[in-house]
Amino acid sequence: MWKSTPDQYGRVAIAIHWVSALLIVALLVSGFRADATADAVGKITVLRAHAAMGITILILTLARIAWWRMADRKPPAPEGTTNSQHRAAQLVHVLFYVVILGMAVSGIGMLVLSGAGAILFGGGAGPLPDFETFLPRTPHGIGARLMLALFALHAGAALYHHFIRRDGLLRRMGIRL
Ligand code: HEM
Repeated sequence: MWKSTPDQYGRVAIAIHWVSALLIVALLVSGFRADATADAVGKITVLRAHAAMGITILILTLARIAWWRMADRKPPAPEGTTNSQHRAAQLVHVLFYVVILGMAVSGIGMLVLSGAGAILFGGGAGPLPDFETFLPRTPHGIGARLMLALFALHAGAALYHHFIRRDGLLRRMGIRL
């Protein structure tokens, strides 16, 4: 089914969810890697992939927001969920959107302000600038740590439901364990 039902996310929602999850993991790994590498050429290669994935997740997240607003409805919270658990889950979901959009805007901001976009994508010559001297680098670094925290809370809650409460929650997102 393309759209969600009361007990199962639809195919479109499942595809967007798992592609986003993979992109976010790859963005966190490549971002920390780019920051830590001393090899100038290697850094350009890693950042080129990082920025391309970052722009992809921006587009995918805008499409995701449009999908939920215009085409589909989320299944209700699993039975036995308290009001405060439901509100906590909703808060984490909203913060995911805020952090993803903030990371994308600050990432693009760094490339525009520093001129590094031309080095990564326009055939311009290196060396790359020191991104720490550009304002959006600070929220980008904070957002990365927030993203790690949200990821742990979100995945931890899903695993708690599935394996401790044994309510089969992961099945709604297409995982048969
Ligand atoms: C959800 C989207 C994104 C995530 C999760 C993400 C993640 C990260 C992480 C973890 C770092 C290292 C932070 C640190 O060490 O403090 C980083 C650095 C960076 N990211 Fe992103 N990023 C995203 C989007 C983007 C986009 C769209 C661009 C550009 C178009 C971009 C460009 C950069 C740049 C230039 C750096 C600096 C590398 C350095 O300081 O050496 N990022 N990112």
